[in-house]
Order: sequence, then C-alpha cells, then structure tokens
Amino acid sequence: METMNIKSKTIFTGDNLPIMRGINSESIDLIYLDPPFNSKTNYAAPIGSKAAGAEFKDTWTLSDVDNAWLDLIETKYPALNRVIHAAMTNSDKSYLIYMAARLLEMKRILKDTGSIYLHCDTTMSHYLKLVMDAVFGKGNFRNEVVWKRTAAHNDSAIYGSIHDTILYYSKGDTPTLNEQYQPYSDEYLKRYKHTDENGKRFLDRDLTAGSLSGGGYQYEWNGITKIWRCPFTTMQEYHKSGKLYYTRNGTPRLKQFLDDMPGAPVQDVWIDIPPINSQAKERVGYPTQKPLALLDRIIKASSNKDEVVFDPFCGCATTLVAADRLQRNWIGIDISEKAAELVVERIKSDQGLFENIINREDIPKRTDLGDILRYNHPKNKTQLYGEQSGYCNGCGTHFEKQHLEVDHIIAENVGGTDHIENLQLLCSHCNRVKGERGQEYLISRLNKD
Ligand SMILES: C[S@@+](CC[C@H](N)C(=O)[O-])C[C@H]1O[C@@H](n2cnc3c(N)ncnc32)[C@H](O)[C@@H]1O
Repeated sequence: METMNIKSKTIFTGDNLPIMRGINSESIDLIYLDPPFNSKTNYAAPIGSKAAGAEFKDTWTLSDVDNAWLDLIETKYPALNRVIHAAMTNSDKSYLIYMAARLLEMKRILKDTGSIYLHCDTTMSHYLKLVMDAVFGKGNFRNEVVWKRTAAHNDSAIYGSIHDTILYYSKGDTPTLNEQYQPYSDEYLKRYKHTDENGKRFLDRDLTAGSLSGGGYQYEWNGITKIWRCPFTTMQEYHKSGKLYYTRNGTPRLKQFLDDMPGAPVQDVWIDIPPINSQAKERVGYPTQKPLALLDRIIKASSNKDEVVFDPFCGCATTLVAADRLQRNWIGIDISEKAAELVVERIKSDQGLFENIINREDIPKRTDLGDILRYNHPKNKTQLYGEQSGYCNGCGTHFEKQHLEVDHIIAENVGGTDHIENLQLLCSHCNRVKGERGQEYLISRLNKD
C-alpha cells in the first residue's frame, strides 16, 4: 500500500480532476462527494451571508470535447461507455462523462479497505448508480441511503419530493464499517414498561428454555424447577447484580435496562437528521450546505481515528469540519476560492484553536511511481513505437520512428505523469495541435477537420 503524498488539513482550490491525478494511489480511507446534481440551476450564496461570493454552475451541454472523452472511455472502459450512452439527453451525457472521469480517479486513490459515498438526488441517481457499478463493480454496491432532507411539502402534480440519495460503495470486500445507532422509536420504547428502585427503565425477558430447540439447563430456582436458558452460575450472577425480575408466580425474568442498550442500528432510510434551518449555528449560507450530523454519521461508520477522509467537492467544508472534530486526517478540494476561505474560518471558530490549514492551488506530484524515466527517454520511444506499430496516435498515419514524438496523453500541467501508461507517440503536426491539452481535445479537433 502506498503512503499519502498530501499533508492532512490541506484544501486545494481548483478543478478536482487534475488535482486527484496528483494524489498517490490507494492512499484514502473514505471519500464523500456531493457534486453538482445536474439540476440545470446555477447556485449563488445570498449576499450578506458568510458565504457571499460563492457560486457554482450546474448546467451541462455536450461539447466536442465531451464527445471525444466518450471515445476515450469507449477504448478503455467499454462498460462505462455503454452506461453513458444510456443517458437520455446530451446534457445528461455530458454530466455523466464529467462524473465518470472523476470517479475513475477516486477509485484509484481509494484504499482497498476504503468506502465511497456519492450524494445525489433523483435527477441523476439512477444513471449514477450504473456509473458507480461500472467503475467500482456491481458487487461492491453496499447501500442506497435515503436521506430525508426537508420537511413535507406540496409539489404540484407529484408526491412531495423530500429526499436525497446517497450511493454507498466499497472498493473491496472488507471495508471498515462501525455500526451506528439512533434513538429508539416511541413504539419500541413502550416495551420498557417497568422502572426499578433507582428509576431505571427496563423490559423483562424470558429465561426459560422450554420453547428453544437444542435444550437448556435444568435446575431449581426460587422453588421452581424448569429448563432455563442459562447455567445456574449465570443465574446467580444475575441475582447478585439485581438483574432478576419476578413475575407474580415467582418465575425469574431478565431485566434489560434501556440505559444499557446502544440504540437502534441505523438502517438505510435516514429521517433523524434534519436539514440546516435558517437559525442553525452551523449555517454559513453556502448553497447546498449539508448538515454536520450527516457527515458525522458517515465518517464514524466508515473510518477510524487518524484515517484519511477526502471530499473532492467540499463546498463550505462540512465534511472537513466533521472529520476534524472526529480526529480524522482530511483533504478537500473545491473549485471555488470562497470554499478555502470558509474552511479556515469554520475550523477556527469550531475548534476555537489556531489550526495549520494548508491552502494550495498547484497540482501535486505523485510520489508512488518509483524511479521512472523522463517521458522523452529513448527507451520509452522504442517501447511505444512497438506498441503503436509505428502509427501516430492522433491522425493514424504510419511514420518512421524519428518522425514521431513522445507526448503525455494527459498533459503534465493537469496532473499527467511520465508513467509509460500516460505516454503515446504523435506526429509533429498532431503534437502541435494538441499542445498542452488532453488527448480528448486532439480527438475533437481531428474529428472536426
Ligand atoms: C453541492 S456543493 C457541495 C456542498 C458541500 N457538501 C457542503 O456541505 O458545503 C458542490 C461543490 O462542488 C464544487 N465544484 C463544482 N465543480 C467542481 C470541480 N470540477 N472541482 C472541484 N469542485 C467543484 C462547487 O464549487 C460546489 O462548492
């Protein structure tokens, strides 16, 4: 397993795709992402709020470059390509291509024991689930969590739409999962109908084994001879610790105290985490800000202390604040400069301490590639000439070796590495057209000409 090359408490300002390309493989324990939902809306924070100035676009159109991305995905990830083609509109396709490129990087940087939670809503959740299946594997789907994000309201001609969807996947078979609990329902609490001399509520449980298959322990207790569920010594311990409750005819039953119970195990419908109301202390006015309690639950469930939590669309840093409180390491990225300002402010006021938060705008360099050759090393050229059988990877024309040039498929300035997997040979014309851009740009230009 590779070590992390980014310091904890770093927030990057910039597009998350090139930045993620600079993060070492298998270095993250938990990813939560709350990306734009393809809502066809552009968001801006209200003037006068702490987040004023923050805005992001959520409208999508299929450009030549998106189409070229699709061509690239088709060659390397055919299943993903089929899923994207299932989308009904060009705008949906464009959105899914944008998401697919990023989810592929997220899979690479996630540890084998890691988990990913993708927060979305019904606009795209059905397509995103297919994309997640194609990227992470259908067998790694864990849950579709329904989060009731708002109070009931009337939507015209449909049922009130009041939930978001959180798609939870693991990278492998053994993700971290710490069981979480929530308060019991009133219905369940009615079963705790007794109160002991100290005012503690309890319910009473059967100690006889008559109805159990596979036997029990026969002995006399309180003048009653029966087959009991526990051995005599255990019954004595219950007696000493005041855990026996006697029915009118003297039969002992076990007291189960409410205070000893952990709560109800959390299920996949979350109705106990309310949205942030207009007066809430945590509210900063950032568009689509999520409640801390939501992130608290996810982080506690799917990570442990000192592990690394990552949010590539961190907004006003809800995930990062929750991770900091829970003593996790964290990294965030947001394209908006306002997000970095808010995270510093939020963590300082939340913890009441000066924190060493690092704000970076550069593209990090991976440190897990070992000693690799510089991209234009003659050995790379010879290997690539053989792999491409002498054809330019742009126009497809055959050339002598000396007329082909080594090029980064993903340009260096957007996180592309010198690794042979990111290299190709282009003729000098295609190389000039492509310049410092990605391969998708070259394909779209060649398709146009
Ligand atoms: C739905 S909001 C996230 C809100 C966040 N969960 C919170 O509680 O504040 C989506 C965020 O993604 C950011 N974003 C959009 N495109 C991005 C990109 N390519 N790279 C990084 N951040 C991006 C937007 O600036 C916005 O802050």
